This record gives sequence, structure tokens and C-alpha cells, in this order.
Amino acid sequence: MSLIPFDDRDGYLWMDGDIIPWRDAKIHVLTHGLHYASCVFEGERAYGGKVFKLHEHSQRLLKSAELLGFTIPYAREEIEKATLKILAKQNIKDGYIRPVAWRGSEMMAVSAQKTRIHVAIACWEWPSYFSQEARARGLRLHLSKWVRPAPNMAPTASKAAGLYMICTLSKHAAEDAGFDDALMLDYRGLIAEATGANMFFVLGGALHTPTPDCFLDGITRRTVMELAKERGIEVVERHIGPEELENVTEVFLAGTAAEVTPVSQIGERSFNVGRLTQTLMEAYGARVTQPD
Ligand SMILES: Cc1ncc(COP(=O)(O)O)c(C=O)c1O
Repeated sequence: MSLIPFDDRDGYLWMDGDIIPWRDAKIHVLTHGLHYASCVFEGERAYGGKVFKLHEHSQRLLKSAELLGFTIPYAREEIEKATLKILAKQNIKDGYIRPVAWRGSEMMAVSAQKTRIHVAIACWEWPSYFSQEARARGLRLHLSKWVRPAPNMAPTASKAAGLYMICTLSKHAAEDAGFDDALMLDYRGLIAEATGANMFFVLGGALHTPTPDCFLDGITRRTVMELAKERGIEVVERHIGPEELENVTEVFLAGTAAEVTPVSQIGERSFNVGRLTQTLMEAYGARVTQPD
């Protein structure tokens, strides 16, 4: 498969208030966000030209920056307007949207109070995060050696670039071992999430999901919980230990990029792609095209 580099594409993106040619969206190598991870981002999807949960994503972008100690110089409404503008300019109906905000180059040391805050929004066509083949058979997850840090070790509620360092390491280790993705435990040894999505488990007919007290409380996760409750499925949010996998009958991931994707294996343990997962996959597929 030939890769089309992300810095060498046709089209436009939105950056610091203007729509500019895609290839002109450049930053200097001495950028605080690059050296010190003072950078937050979002991942959104458009379905039929409508961005699913745009308010929630835009709000979370602002909140993520606040948690990293900086303020994005645009209101939520302005970010939403810019998102819709670039989506229309790129003529994307079904695609992925990546807003990103970072500290600039005015200071180049740990302190960064006087750096300018930049914002860019890019969008492109991106049908599926995992291959259709992996989605159909269910993902195979490798247990990561990295654990999600405690809330007093990192700003864990922020969708901050720095928190993805261990996700990339975990995902690479998983792929090197022939798996699709990794399951990450948290600092207590409890089940946390995958490298870019939250997790759900079917146990005794109910849907169980870990309490998001040290990782992202995903927008997809909350949508899936709503969809399950609407269908009379019991939803239990609680701490879940890895030893409980023994009694689990179905597993799936939920995230904007991953959508609802079944898991067929965690380490040595196998799971069926069951009825409840199928129901919620279909329900989520229908929900994303409806108004928020
Ligand atoms: C680490 C991580 N956890 C969870 C999620 C799911 O969040 P959301 O459903 O809001 O996309 C994502 C995806 O953005 C993620 O990257």
C-alpha cells in the first residue's frame, strides 16, 4: 500500500482564522507543542455532511486546552463554524476531522506562558479505522505493558498529545506481535481502554464498561451507553479487573474513529461477535446520521 503523506496533499485546511492551501499549513521546528507536548486535539467524523456531536467535540477541545493550562483564542461557536467551513471547502460528506491546538514558538523552554496559541482544523476522507476484514472477524487485542497513568500523574481527562506516547508504543508492540490493537490497564491494574477507543464488555446479559476516572470519557462511549439503555439493556459503569474477562461473553470498542468494533480476542482469550455487539453496532450506525 502506498502512503500519501499528510503534508503533501491537495486541498485546504483552516489555520488560525483562515482557509489556506493544505501544503502551506506549516509550523517552525522550534514549536513548544512539538518539544514539550503542549498540544491538544480532537477526532471527529462527518456522516452525510453532518459532523456527529460537533458541540461535544468542540467543547472538549476547549476543555483539553484548559487542562493543559492554555486558552484557545476562539469560542466554541467559532470553532464549529470553522469546522463546517473547511468541511464544505473540502467538499467532504463522509470523513474525519482533526482540530488541533498548540503552543507556538515564542518561548523555547519548559515555561511557555507567552507562547501564541495556534489552532488548525483539517478534514479528509477516511472510511474506516480498522480494516473491513478486522471489523468483520473482530479485533485481536494484545495486552500492553504500558498502563494509563493516575489523574495526579498526567492530565488524564484531556485529549492531550502527550498522553498518546504510550498509545503509539502499545499499538506498535501489538502490531509487531500480529495483533490489531492493545488493551491498556490503568495504574491500579484495572482495565482502562484500547489505544484510541473505550471498551465495553457483555457479562451476564448486561453491558459493563470501566469508570473513566483516569482516561477519556469518550463521546462514542456515552452515545453507546444511551443507545443500550434505550433498548432496555442494563449498563453498568464500574471498575473492572482483567481477571473478570473469564466470564465475559462479548467485547467491543467504541470511539469516534473506531466506531463500534467487535473484539474477538484479548491475549489468549477468545470471544464471539455476539448479538448485543451486533445490535449496538447497528444502532450506532443509524444514530450517527440523525441530528444530535
Ligand atoms: C485514547 C482514547 N480513548 C477513548 C477515545 C474515544 O473517544 P471518543 O468516543 O470521544 O472519540 C479515543 C478517541 O478519540 C481515544 O483516543
